[in-house]
Amino acid sequence: MPKIKIDGGHELSGTITISGAKNSVVALIPAAILCDETVTISNVPNITDVDDLENILVHLNAKITRSPGKVEINSSDIINKEITETLSKKLRASYYFMGALLGKFNKVDMYFPGGCSIGARPINLHLKGFELLGAKITEEENHFIIEAEKLRGNNIYLDFPSVGATINIMLAAVKARGKTVIDNAAQEPEIVNIATFLNNMGAKIRGAGTSTITIIGVKYLHSCFHEVIPDRIEAGTYLVIASLLGQELKIDNMIPSHLEALIAKLTEAGVEMDIGLDNIVIHEPKDYHGIDIKTLVYPGFATDLQQIMAPFLTQCKGRSTIEETIYENRFQNLPELDKMGANTQIRKDNRKATIRGKTPLKGTEVTATDLRGGASLLVAALIAEGVTTIDNISYILRGYDQIVEKLTAVGAKIEII
Ligand code: EPZ
Repeated sequence: MPKIKIDGGHELSGTITISGAKNSVVALIPAAILCDETVTISNVPNITDVDDLENILVHLNAKITRSPGKVEINSSDIINKEITETLSKKLRASYYFMGALLGKFNKVDMYFPGGCSIGARPINLHLKGFELLGAKITEEENHFIIEAEKLRGNNIYLDFPSVGATINIMLAAVKARGKTVIDNAAQEPEIVNIATFLNNMGAKIRGAGTSTITIIGVKYLHSCFHEVIPDRIEAGTYLVIASLLGQELKIDNMIPSHLEALIAKLTEAGVEMDIGLDNIVIHEPKDYHGIDIKTLVYPGFATDLQQIMAPFLTQCKGRSTIEETIYENRFQNLPELDKMGANTQIRKDNRKATIRGKTPLKGTEVTATDLRGGASLLVAALIAEGVTTIDNISYILRGYDQIVEKLTAVGAKIEII
């Protein structure tokens, strides 16, 4: 199994350019099949999730042409056949094919094995939305058959502002007869990116980015050209790294307003940064003190960034806390950080952690437990004294486009062995 090997403690300077958002492109590609013509999506990140989605499109006989940073998709010859477990279990975002195939054909037949290491991650809210649009659902051993005579718009209240459910219901509703209102919708920027894509094809979606989204069904969706927004979690990851090691380090092609909560908390800890229109520059690290973080849905502090903040908090003088309100099991990276010299405690309900700093970190062998957990170990390895090797790196490579190349270019000693 390949590993990432890092020799820590090297200052980083120069420019890191942010790629397209993973959590947007994994919805845009399934959404593309709703179009009755060819669509082109640009600023596509080079990550394995895109490859896995391409395999599902090919399985469905959709035409996908890939060039660097771009995909072209034509679904006019698509066949609505069963999506196997082998294909769907590769990534959780395969569940967007439920909304897309239901929206296009009024039927979808696919396996979807739920859960993952950070939590149970049920899809009950997705299914509630499909039923309210008129679909009947039968599920047996993770095999879902969801079908409707015809899909009719309806009012759908989400008990929790779920990102996946909001997007999946949007996909199912764009061609449904009449008006759909999603109440208590998630407000993440990726949702705006999907809604804009669909509207560019001729859909009628209003209110994306707010807690109430209105969709008027349309019959036909024409071709369009669309761009993936910059990845705010990738940008946040490099901003944390820059706060620790940056000497004139610029994070470029990002949207600072998508990272308001992170910027506020880093600033509270003592980080000094110059915020530009589409970039942030960190001139040099400062001395930092402990802060308290609580994850919330957007625009609150992103759950995906709390794990990446953990190594940063080990370098803050005093006591810091992280309260995770979204997932039930998202502190698996902390014991790995402790192996490197961190001083962390997790409350017995697994919802709050305390980190005491400032503790010097030393390189050792660690294992990634999930995507952002792996990223947090990589951040720790970059600041640790000596050499760290990280195992299970497929988690990391799924969500970070060319992370080894991007860090090497600004002076990190990092390689895949
Ligand atoms: C998206 O997952 C992201 N993934 C996650 O990023 C991110 O952590 C999450 O949103 C929250 O921001 C993608 O976009 C591909 P949710 P999603 O539905 O849509 C519960 C990463 O690191 N829930 O908002 O699955 C669920 O159990 C990944 O890139 C239900 O109870 O997130 C969880 O506790 C990790 N029933 C909470 O809501 C449902 O039907 C948040 O889930 C759906 C969700």
